[in-house]
Parts: sequence; C-alpha cells; structure tokens
Amino acid sequence: MSARFEGRVVLVAGGTGGLGRAASSAFLDEGADVAVTYRNQPEWEAFQNSASANAVRLQGHEVDVTDEAAVTRVVEKILLKHDRLDAMVNAVGAYAGGLKLWEMETKVFEQMLHLNLRSGYVLSRAAVRAMLRQGRGAIVNVAAKAAFDHAAGASAYAASKAAAVAMLDALAADVKGSGVRVNTILPSIIDTEANRKAMPKADFSKWPKPQDIARVILFLCSDDAKVIHGAAIPVYGDS
Ligand SMILES: NC(=O)c1ccc[n+]([C@@H]2O[C@H](COP(=O)([O-])OP(=O)(O)OC[C@H]3O[C@@H](n4cnc5c(N)ncnc54)[C@H](OP(=O)(O)O)[C@@H]3O)[C@@H](O)[C@H]2O)c1
Repeated sequence: MSARFEGRVVLVAGGTGGLGRAASSAFLDEGADVAVTYRNQPEWEAFQNSASANAVRLQGHEVDVTDEAAVTRVVEKILLKHDRLDAMVNAVGAYAGGLKLWEMETKVFEQMLHLNLRSGYVLSRAAVRAMLRQGRGAIVNVAAKAAFDHAAGASAYAASKAAAVAMLDALAADVKGSGVRVNTILPSIIDTEANRKAMPKADFSKWPKPQDIARVILFLCSDDAKVIHGAAIPVYGDS
C-alpha cells in the first residue's frame, strides 16, 4: 500500500456511489482518513464492511449535500475530529435525459440543477473556508463530458454540468494564490453497476472503470498535481 495520503483527511461526497466508492476506497488504500456522505444506510453499511481493516479510518455522515446548514455541520465535525481537511471530492450527481426541452417536466430541470450544481456550491463553500484558513487543500468536482458536448434530450443535464464547470472555474480564480487548488473532471459513461443494468446490451469494454477515474481524482488531490488549478479534465478514454 502506498501511503501518499497518510495523515491526510479527505471528504468524499457521494462516497458510497459508483464513482465515489472507488475514490473513497482508493484514498483509504493510500492511507487517508476518509469521511463520506451517504443517504442510503444499507449502501453505507456495505461500504463500511468492505473497507475491512481500513474501516478505522472511515467515517460516514448521512446528509443531503444540497442542505447548506447540514453540510456545514459535517465539515465542522470533521475539523473537530481531525483539525484539518486536505481534500474534498464531490461525486454527487444525477442524470436525466431522453426528453426534449419542452417535453421534460420542469421539476426534472430543477432536480438537475440541485444535484449537479447546488451540491458543488454547498460543498465547496463549506470546504473552501476551512482550506483557506489552512492555506492548502484540493477540491475536485465531478461534472461530465456533457458540460461541453450538448446532446439532444439532455438540455437540463448538460446545462447543470456546464454551470458546475463554470462555477468551479470561477472559484479557482477566487482562490488563486491561496494554496487551495480547484479542479473539475469530465467523465462520459462510466462502467458502473447501474449503467450495466440500464444498458445490458452495450459493449462495456470501452467504458472507463470507476477505479481508473478514481486514480485521476487522487492524482488531482495529491502534491504531484500542485501545478494543476482551474482545469476541467476529460476522463472518458475511448468512450
Ligand atoms: N455514471 C456515469 O456514467 C457518469 C457519467 C458522467 C458523469 N457522471 C457523474 O459522476 C458522478 C458520480 O456518478 P455515479 O455514477 O457514481 O453516480 P451514483 O452511483 O448515482 O452516485 C451518486 C451518489 O450521490 C448520492 N447522492 C445523490 N443525491 C444526493 C444528495 N442530495 N445528498 C447526498 N448524496 C446524494 C447518491 O446517494 P443515493 O444512492 O443514496 O441517492 C450516490 O451515492 C456524478 O456527478 C455523475 O453525474 C457519471
């Protein structure tokens, strides 16, 4: 086990989801103390059990990450326990597609903005304050290729992810020179269990694995990436 993150404290929002779980596991494997947010208790318990010996460095917080007061409390709890927050990864998000703009229900548009944009807003606000006080830290927000590649039937999703990229880009400008780095990654389709179930006839071989994308997330949160700030990095391989 490499100990690149030993003594470091990382918050992974959506840390029990398809990509978030791969990132949380990789951080644990590399020695970090990891706090994950979750909503689904059985998913959290399954993840905690799978962490085996690493579970002593894992904590879970059941929270809706669009609730600003609740997220602020989570960050306060992390700081109370560890007195530092080295990285925050936002892997919360949702997809809706297949309907044209005028066919889609407006509540779906609002849901996309909530989960893909407000989540990053709330989490970044809470994390960046602690990081600015420390004079160091890394934020990685998970957007999507759709932020730039605006397909038919994906108006709400594409708009929410594009806005998230813009927001993180502006945040990167806000914190320039502070020691805090802010970046975005742009996955296309990921080889998750949920995607395999939804598209059983697809060729999975070209879909990037969550573990491969997690490696990029860890790199961005590591000191090796100290010169990367304000980037939106494609992580879609050949897909
Ligand atoms: N999968 C893909 O092909 C793909 C492609 C491009 C971009 N992305 C982006 O990559 C990120 C991760 O995707 P994924 O496939 O890992 O998704 P996922 O498996 O659905 O995981 C998302 C996680 O976020 C949690 N979550 C959702 N709403 C929340 C809220 N309000 N508060 C707290 N937690 C909440 C979910 O918890 P619950 O299960 O309890 O709801 C879940 O654990 C997302 O931003 C997604 O848009 C994914």
